[in-house]
Order: sequence, then C-alpha cells, then structure tokens
Amino acid sequence: MKIGILGSGDVAKALGEGFIKHGHEAMLGTRSAGKLADWVKANPKSRVGSFQEAAKFGEAIVLAVKGGAAGEALKAAGAANLAGKTIIDATNPSTDEPPTDGVLNFFTDFKESLMERLQKQFPNARFVKAFNSVGADLMVNPQLKGGKPTMFICGNDASAKKTVGGILDQFGWETADMGTAQAARAIEPLAILWCIPGFLKNEWAHAFKLLRP
Ligand SMILES: NC(=O)c1ccc[n+]([C@@H]2O[C@H](COP(=O)([O-])OP(=O)(O)OC[C@H]3O[C@@H](n4cnc5c(N)ncnc54)[C@H](OP(=O)(O)O)[C@@H]3O)[C@@H](O)[C@H]2O)c1
Repeated sequence: MKIGILGSGDVAKALGEGFIKHGHEAMLGTRSAGKLADWVKANPKSRVGSFQEAAKFGEAIVLAVKGGAAGEALKAAGAANLAGKTIIDATNPSTDEPPTDGVLNFFTDFKESLMERLQKQFPNARFVKAFNSVGADLMVNPQLKGGKPTMFICGNDASAKKTVGGILDQFGWETADMGTAQAARAIEPLAILWCIPGFLKNEWAHAFKLLRP
C-alpha cells in the first residue's frame, strides 16, 4: 500500500521504516522537510513532502503529530485528501506539562477522546486508534519474552479496522478490537499507564498483552 504519514518525529520515522521494511511505500509529511534530511539519507526508499502531499500520496494515512496539533495537521493535509481513507491514529492528547509522579497529563477527560473529536471534525475519514500505547522503538516487530504483545484498536469503520489488523499482523502484533471510536476514551489513557515505568524507573521496553482463556 501507499502510506502517507503525517509527522516527522520518532513515531513517524519508526512506522515509516516499518512500512518500507514490509514492502509498502511511505511518504512522511512535515512543515519542514529539511529536518528529515539525515533520515531520508538513511532510508533511501522513503519520501518526504508537506502534510498535503503525504495525505494525497497515501491510500491509508498515519496520524503521528503532537496531539494538540492533530486537528491543525489534518486541516493542512486537506479534508478532501483524507476522505474515505483509513487514518491510523497514533496520537495522544498529552499536554506540555511535566508528568506528575510519572503520570502524563491529558487535555481530554473520560467523556471525550481526542480521536472522537477528530472523527467529528473529519467525518468522511475512517479513524482507527492504534500504536498510541507503546513506544516508537517497539512499534514494528517487537521482540519480547512474553511473545506477541496486544495492540488495542478501535474505530467506527469495520473495513478500516480490518486494514489496520492486517498491518498489525505484519508488524508482529495481536489485535484486540475494542469497538467504536468511543473506546478511544479507554485506549488513549493506556499511554499514560505505559509511560509510568519509563518516567519513574527509566524502563521503556514493555508492551501490553491481553490474556484470554
Ligand atoms: N514518541 C513515542 O514513542 C510515542 C508513542 C506512542 C504515541 N505517541 C504519540 O504519537 C504522536 C507523535 O509523537 P512523536 O514523539 O513522534 O512526535 P511529537 O514530538 O509528539 O510530534 C512531532 C510532530 O508534531 C507536529 N507538530 C507539532 N506542532 C504542530 C503544529 N502546530 N501544527 C502542525 N504540526 C505540528 C510536528 O510537525 P513538523 O514535522 O512540521 O515539525 C511533528 O511532525 C504524539 O501524539 C504522541 O503522543 C508517541
């Protein structure tokens, strides 16, 4: 598939490398392409463009920008370039405040997630929450003692979730579909939990696993 990745940070780069490794084409979108010059040198099959160019390029889109800028980045990408497409939403609604006792601060509450806001703002795009509750280093084919970890996903569109499930298979994850976009109210805060051992003990090499009977 052709994947347009909105973002130039650790998540965009890790997923970009993952998509290329698995035979997809990837274009990263940013406001300042210069900052990715070294990364492009190291990843010669990658492409870089504006948010709009990346969104146009992608048959599916990855949203990997700062949570507070997600609406703005999607606007810059252009609603017409998102319409009908699967949007893999890796963002978290973190604020710039420092964590308190290792606990990140969010600008949302339990009655509304960031992804629901974005889905309302761009009703023709098909958002699927994924990759938000694990560090960028572990997003692609994580090697952990307990076997394959679980990626919790949600979204309103079944076929978009199927597309994301296929990508997660390639990327070495089990998928747990938690339902509609509302479930992002629970999945986004998993990132808070995931980060606590990191902030308190500098332990960042873990992932969640759902155990079943
Ligand atoms: N880092 C992780 O391990 C991790 C893990 C899971 C989820 N996440 C989530 O994934 C997202 C990306 O994280 P990250 O660490 O890779 O990068 P980040 O530092 O959170 O975000 C960098 C990206 O945000 C964009 N951005 C910042 N302000 C903007 C604005 N005003 N308008 C438009 N775009 C703006 C930047 O655009 P430019 O390229 O134009 O500068 C850049 O692409 C975040 O929501 C984060 O919470 C991160």
